[in-house]
Amino acid sequence: MTSKEIRDTFLRFFEERGHAVVPPSPVVPLDDPTLLFTNAGMNQFKDVFLGTGTRDYRRAADSQKVIRAGGKHNDLDDVGHDTYHHTLFEMLGSWSFGDYFKRDAIRWAWELLHEVYGIPAERLHVTYFAGDAGDGLEADTEARDLWIETTGVDPSRIHPFGKKDNFWEMADTGPCGPCSEIHVDLTPDLSGGPLVNADDPRVFEVWNLVFIQYNRDGEGKLSPLPASHVDTGMGFERLVTVLQNKTSNYDTDVFAPLLARLQELTGAPAYAATMPSDEPTDGEMRDISYRVVADHIRCLAFAIADGAQPDNEGRGYVLRRILRRAVRYGRQYLGVEGPFLHGLVPTLVDQMGDQFPELRDHGDRIAEVIHEEEESFGRTLDTGLKLFNAAADEAIAQGRRPIDGETAFKLHDTYGFPIDLTSIIAGERGLEVDLVGYDARMEEARERARGTGGDGAVDHARALVAAAGQLDGAVIDAAATDDGPKFETFDLTTSMTAWLDGDGALRRDPLTSDSPCGVVLAATPFYAEQGGQVGDRGVLRSPTGRFRVDGTHRVRDMVLHVGTLESGGLEVGQDLEAEVDADRRRSIMSNHTATHLLNLGLREVLGDHVQQRGSLVDDAKTRFDFAHRSALTQGEIEAIETAVEKAIGDGLEVHDLEVPLERAKSIRGLRAVFGEKYPDQVRVVSVGAAVEHLLGEPDSHRWGDLSIELCGGTHVGNTGDLGAFALTTEEAVAKGIRRVVGVTGAAAQSARSRAVELLERASALTSVEDEGTLRSGLAELQAAVAGEVLPTLGRQRLLDRIGTLQAEAKTRQRAAAQQQGAKAQTRARALLDTALDAGDTKVIVGEVPNADADQLREALDWLRQKAGSAAVVLFATGGKKPVLFAGLTSDLVDGGLDARQILREAGKIVGGGGGGRPDLAQGGGKDAAKVPEAVEHLGGWLREQILS
Ligand code: SER
Repeated sequence: MTSKEIRDTFLRFFEERGHAVVPPSPVVPLDDPTLLFTNAGMNQFKDVFLGTGTRDYRRAADSQKVIRAGGKHNDLDDVGHDTYHHTLFEMLGSWSFGDYFKRDAIRWAWELLHEVYGIPAERLHVTYFAGDAGDGLEADTEARDLWIETTGVDPSRIHPFGKKDNFWEMADTGPCGPCSEIHVDLTPDLSGGPLVNADDPRVFEVWNLVFIQYNRDGEGKLSPLPASHVDTGMGFERLVTVLQNKTSNYDTDVFAPLLARLQELTGAPAYAATMPSDEPTDGEMRDISYRVVADHIRCLAFAIADGAQPDNEGRGYVLRRILRRAVRYGRQYLGVEGPFLHGLVPTLVDQMGDQFPELRDHGDRIAEVIHEEEESFGRTLDTGLKLFNAAADEAIAQGRRPIDGETAFKLHDTYGFPIDLTSIIAGERGLEVDLVGYDARMEEARERARGTGGDGAVDHARALVAAAGQLDGAVIDAAATDDGPKFETFDLTTSMTAWLDGDGALRRDPLTSDSPCGVVLAATPFYAEQGGQVGDRGVLRSPTGRFRVDGTHRVRDMVLHVGTLESGGLEVGQDLEAEVDADRRRSIMSNHTATHLLNLGLREVLGDHVQQRGSLVDDAKTRFDFAHRSALTQGEIEAIETAVEKAIGDGLEVHDLEVPLERAKSIRGLRAVFGEKYPDQVRVVSVGAAVEHLLGEPDSHRWGDLSIELCGGTHVGNTGDLGAFALTTEEAVAKGIRRVVGVTGAAAQSARSRAVELLERASALTSVEDEGTLRSGLAELQAAVAGEVLPTLGRQRLLDRIGTLQAEAKTRQRAAAQQQGAKAQTRARALLDTALDAGDTKVIVGEVPNADADQLREALDWLRQKAGSAAVVLFATGGKKPVLFAGLTSDLVDGGLDARQILREAGKIVGGGGGGRPDLAQGGGKDAAKVPEAVEHLGGWLREQILS
């Protein structure tokens, strides 16, 4: 039976017994947060079991695509290393919802396996639940007795097992119950009884009959369900293995097309079905790789078809890890250089698209997503492997110590190696990875990401500010700094009153140390980090020394100028010039004023619910978080930009004044940050009207449209100073919170002109004829869109343009393929005309330049059919390595010829290998230059074979 017949037989069997054959659910369970992926056929019926949902049928059957690569059921690490575990497999399922129970389930399972599929009784073992004291559950002797009573199974083949094997649960919580499993014994002498549930590839579970009776709640407690249900699931690929008399799932027609195509794509020696020994040889590693890739592509394709995407977290990260594993195996052991995985998608679609139409519907997108991921990992993979190999060599030289956490972290952080991948690669060299060290590095990195910058200066600053916070309150107050000048000037003559050393001591002796420390001044023009605005940088200059200020921080009323002494020394009381980096600060002021205009614009465009939830203003940008449910539309973004730009164009004056909090609050339209605690005396910043005006008539409706905020930050004097404004990012940061990023001045202008430039480049690409140039142009554009600061709208326009161009490129590619197909056809005709005669048989051997495998195969079929009796060998040349097909009409096969033998004969000249059937074999050669010689030789050789 073919796998398709096996599947159909299952569904028909249950249909005849009153089961509705239903479509499977998607592998991405969008509505069940307890699941990463659909891990069983019963997932879609969870509500029925729990009694919270109903269906209009009480019996159902289907073939469910299931992913077990994360969460409670996870087989990922076995995949490729054995013959029967998969990340994605098909589960043939049947259900009774409170209808029939154990008796029918058991009886039918036996009937189907033994009588319909014809598996001999002595190859089958069954198990039942032995009970569990912890859960207060008795042994399921009812199931045991039913096996004896209703089937012909020999009682010596019925085995009890505990909770781990015979109590099935969907996840940590949810429907569950005791189960009875059927195992197949493939040992030649049927000695497999003791190997049941022993992880032996010769004896494996094929069908699980679960008797769903309980629900497990969040505290781990079981409670009985309102009704008893049957939930059975059979491993389709395993069943096919048994029924096709194989010993490995990979030897069945489920995997054969993928393995063959993989060989074509990589040109590696054919899959040889070896299993890894303790010290795997190259050939064994190659076979593992074949299995891993053939398995993983299925998982990726199904998951992407159902809406998942490789990503940095959650199920997306599971997919990314799976994809990167496959790519690494392909590169390292199948010798492939560029992206190749995506090339398997059409084969999978052909093979499974009828049963799972979603594959066909999304085939192009699946291939594209995979291709992109392959490319991006491909860029760092080789360098990463080099780094790994150097580290591994060293680890081995030092007596096989583990790969250090630093290297593992770097591989993750810089080269995109998921930690499990690094562990696998290390394992292949007999090494372990220091996972504790790796975790520590990860934690540090997270810590750094939480801080503002992540450089050394930031760490020092944080340490110093924390140390200063420990000082006695009176000591801090005594060192209070007058920072009023920050609103008026960028430089000021003042003096040092004290300095804070690295140990956190406030000192008054001369500062001569060149370690990072904090200088306290009597007065300062430096702005200390506060209210989302970053602190200033600059220099302190005395007659005797120069101190570089990397950041300014406030500890109560004391301002710390954190940095390092660059030359000489500083003394308390000495005159000192404090000089702020003015250009940087001007940018900060522009961006801060832009924040206020943005806040107003958002409110105008989106509505009054727009509450500020956080902001960060530095010299490069303003970043603003606010409460809002949905993503901003292009129209909204445009309107917000226009509002801010209008304020800039109007050249409005920016005013400020310190006033008592109560008075400030009386001003209509005043904005304060929700939840912030303000002092009694506050500063009001208003754009376009003097604060005195506002206070004179606080209730006036005129103020409703103005930007009036409580704010301690520094601003430009006039909105015209901003020059320009553009939003560069709009995204979600948390549920219900959006984040926008804006830039001003030269940064806004350059983002704009860059977008214009890129759009022009995109337009120019429309007329590019050459496909390679078009592709590289598109790749460049995509990289720019991903990596450069561009206005959101421009970026969107670019993305649209790129999408159109990509579609166009694809159309052209298709047209080219068609043209190529026509050429191949013409070539086939020519080959038929020049065929050699061997009696009544034609010997046709030749090259079909630039054909792909499908075209070659088509040409071959056509030739066989036209000639009636023929031996055909076709080489696709054009690439470095030729692909070849050999085919025979059935009369020649009956006469004892074998296409695989032709392949071997060809291999003697062009190298490489291949495989297939007696009537059709395909392979890959190593050396295209040798093809003419092979053509010449094979013609004569085949004639001899046929005539002899
Ligand atoms: N839910 C059970 C399993 O997945 C039977 O369908 O094994």
